[in-house]
Amino acid sequence: MCGIVGYVGERDAYPILIKGLHRLEYRGYDSAGVALINEAGKLNVFKAKGKVAELESFVTDKDTTGHIGIAHTRWATHGEPNTANAHPHYSESERLAIIHNGIIENYSVLKAGLTQEGYTFKSDTDTEVLVQLIEYTQVDRQVDLRTAVQLALQQVVGAYAIVVLDQEHPDTLIAARKGSPLVVGIGDGEYFLASDATPIVEYTDKVIYIDDEEVVTINKGRDVEIVTIGNVQKTPEIKRLEMSLSQLEKGGYPHFMLKEIFEQPRTLTDSMRGRINVRQDNISLSGFIDNRERFLNAKRIIITACGTSWHAGLIAMYAIEEFARIPVEVEYSSEFRYRKPVIDKDDVVIAISQSGETADTLAAIQLAKEHGAFIFSICNVVGASIPRVSHSGCYTHAGPEIGVASTKAFTAQVVALTMLALCIGREKGTLSPDKYLAIVRELGQIPDKIECVLGQDKRIAEFAKMFMYAQNFIYLGRGYNYPVALEGALKLKEISYIHAEGYPAAEMKHGPIALISSEMPVVVVAPRCGTYEKVVSNIQEIKARKGRVIAIVTEGDDLISKIADFVIEVPCTEECLTPLLTVIPLQLIAYHIAVVKDRDVDQPRNLAKSVTVE
Ligand code: F6R
Repeated sequence: MCGIVGYVGERDAYPILIKGLHRLEYRGYDSAGVALINEAGKLNVFKAKGKVAELESFVTDKDTTGHIGIAHTRWATHGEPNTANAHPHYSESERLAIIHNGIIENYSVLKAGLTQEGYTFKSDTDTEVLVQLIEYTQVDRQVDLRTAVQLALQQVVGAYAIVVLDQEHPDTLIAARKGSPLVVGIGDGEYFLASDATPIVEYTDKVIYIDDEEVVTINKGRDVEIVTIGNVQKTPEIKRLEMSLSQLEKGGYPHFMLKEIFEQPRTLTDSMRGRINVRQDNISLSGFIDNRERFLNAKRIIITACGTSWHAGLIAMYAIEEFARIPVEVEYSSEFRYRKPVIDKDDVVIAISQSGETADTLAAIQLAKEHGAFIFSICNVVGASIPRVSHSGCYTHAGPEIGVASTKAFTAQVVALTMLALCIGREKGTLSPDKYLAIVRELGQIPDKIECVLGQDKRIAEFAKMFMYAQNFIYLGRGYNYPVALEGALKLKEISYIHAEGYPAAEMKHGPIALISSEMPVVVVAPRCGTYEKVVSNIQEIKARKGRVIAIVTEGDDLISKIADFVIEVPCTEECLTPLLTVIPLQLIAYHIAVVKDRDVDQPRNLAKSVTVE
């Protein structure tokens, strides 16, 4: 997740680039940088760790003149967030500069080859390897820059959107994409390039969306030229942007929460990118590989988190115990930190946090560290306090989550934790190779399957109206879907202010069934797996007491469809992955009920996005 922007024309490039970076800052904000060619033909690169504002302070006394430039806001993947790893990156001769969004999977092999040729590297990034490869190819093969870019990209495995600036061609930008977005804006004698149209829309409504494996050359005096990396000419297709500036912050959605719900196919692709290989038969998590022995020798895993992140931790308990056969305890950080828990130096503590700043989780980590445990964090915000104080970890790469009710961060946490459980299970030999392969393959299908669930949004919005006056809700689920029931209830509570409780379905008859009446909507998460038949019986018990049942079922489930009052279908998947699909309708139900009740969906009362106090 990075933001890239470029400009060539008659105007001063710097203010356009900086404004563009601010618009793209939601894509990452651990460092920012800009490269410009000044009137004297010199290529200047300026970078700063932190947000775009830090870059602006840094360049106040620098030469930011020029009518051509590129700029980048980074969401760290390879290499920690620091100035050296910030983009743009120079080539060896400092004649070329590059910005990149994506991951070059085979960068270490390419780097080794270039090192043998005498190339040196100033950063830990895969991006620097690419710009060096482009320069090496150009010098070695004696070709023009575009050909060098094509040849270099033919050697690359992975995802990229890149823009290259060449000091010797101060009117030209060369860009390319595969798997990461790239848009060209066509102005009057000027061109813009960006990760999405948000930095472009105030200058022009004419855009070209670059396709995978296309290389585009934009020169201020000429038409846009597009060729594939295999050198097939393409005819640029100019499209008209249908968006207004005011819509941009929410990307056209009425609320950040809805935008974030709909982003999930993409955010989960981002969470898996560079971790699940292109053949979709292997997971490689660097945090696990670097600490393999700690995980394999762990006598126990303690998961600590708060709220929605705690629900993701509960799902992880099912997956880790099933695949890795290591006992797992899931602890509310706020309880764990004060209850004098028994912690051993052989324990692995997994701390989960979207913001990376939750005070209770930080304190729980501190306590576990004092007892010598190994701390692994699952976090969304790069460079936040929790990953900084942890021994190792895994970023979820869901992108900035602005809606206070967590949605896309939750599913990204579940994906990261599932990948970790699979890695431990495979290495321990407690998970069969066939089962491992089946789940890894299925993980790759999850974004498309979520897309299918999102297709039912209008229907869910209609039915939500029927429940706007309900005073209470019950959510039920079993196994992997018990935490989903808890999460559905939390979503409804926090944004609609309707009281809701989540229970394991079988616990109904130990008390909560007394609440069932025709006034009580009961949401039952019942995909066809695990204890399905038992859940069907639970639904019968509710119907016998006149409860109103809303069931989340697997596609084609004729049995529950006949008993429940309302049914939402999700595609079939591996049991451990069902939460990634079943939670989507629950997010949408909560959202639409809150909207009909005219609640402040993105900023519900009494809540804050990052809970930095006890
Ligand atoms: C609910 C929600 C909260 C957070 C909790 C932990 O939608 O967002 O329950 O999950 O405050 O926050 P993080 O994950 O930032 O530690």
